[in-house]
Amino acid sequence: MRIHPFEELDWQPTAMGDLTLRRRTDAALGVEIFEVKLGEEFLMSSLFTVAEEQLATLGLAVAVGDRLKVLVGGLGLGYTAIAALRDARVGAMTVIDTMPAVIDWHERGLLPVSGELTSDPRTSLVLDDFFAVMRREPDATDPLYDAILLDVDHSPRHQLDPSHADLYTEAGLSALSRHLKPSGVFALWSDDPPDHEFMAVMALVFAEPAAHVIDFDNPVTGGVSSNTVYVAGT
Ligand SMILES: C[S@@+](CC[C@H](N)C(=O)[O-])C[C@H]1O[C@@H](n2cnc3c(N)ncnc32)[C@H](O)[C@@H]1O
Repeated sequence: MRIHPFEELDWQPTAMGDLTLRRRTDAALGVEIFEVKLGEEFLMSSLFTVAEEQLATLGLAVAVGDRLKVLVGGLGLGYTAIAALRDARVGAMTVIDTMPAVIDWHERGLLPVSGELTSDPRTSLVLDDFFAVMRREPDATDPLYDAILLDVDHSPRHQLDPSHADLYTEAGLSALSRHLKPSGVFALWSDDPPDHEFMAVMALVFAEPAAHVIDFDNPVTGGVSSNTVYVAGT
């Protein structure tokens, strides 16, 4: 049995279970890994971030114009957000997360990208429920978004919480699309392969939804793993 020495950086009880942030060094891989557990389930790991970054890259690739206003749903370890900031056309980025602990970790500089993320004047970290925000009418005094990048649930079918399910319906996606400019983009990360039923729902609301399969080397299995990034325009 291989023992991984790890350091618990934070532990907080939440409505969805106990949230733990820990750092460990994987001797075999020779890397330092940050990981988050919710209850007994692994929620996030810094070991695989390719698809989280591709969520921003592929979503913003089809956004038009500059001084883009971007909304990221789910801050997590911050890889999607930092990839969005690396696009110089992004003028402002709001990142919504429902867990105070996650925002707090970044504000305390505990994660590898925290410094770059929080020191960028384009970043606003907002404590809120992304799904509740999408159900509400957009604030009439605020410009709409050029892009909404979402990575909260495991997939459109496997949600972290049952209250998220309505977003993945025609009505939920329509409500979300009211927050986008006419040329706006919605991109979504998923741990499952492309879901053709969900693509059909997306097509009721968005023009030409696409599902990109992102393959990446998995040093744990020694094989290749995949995530899906959906991208759709209004
Ligand atoms: C898988 S992580 C996001 C990973 C992120 N893309 C990255 O690059 O590290 C999901 C995040 O969604 C947050 N979350 C869970 N429910 C949420 C909700 N209702 N609204 C906003 N964020 C939520 C969790 O706290 C967690 O930080």
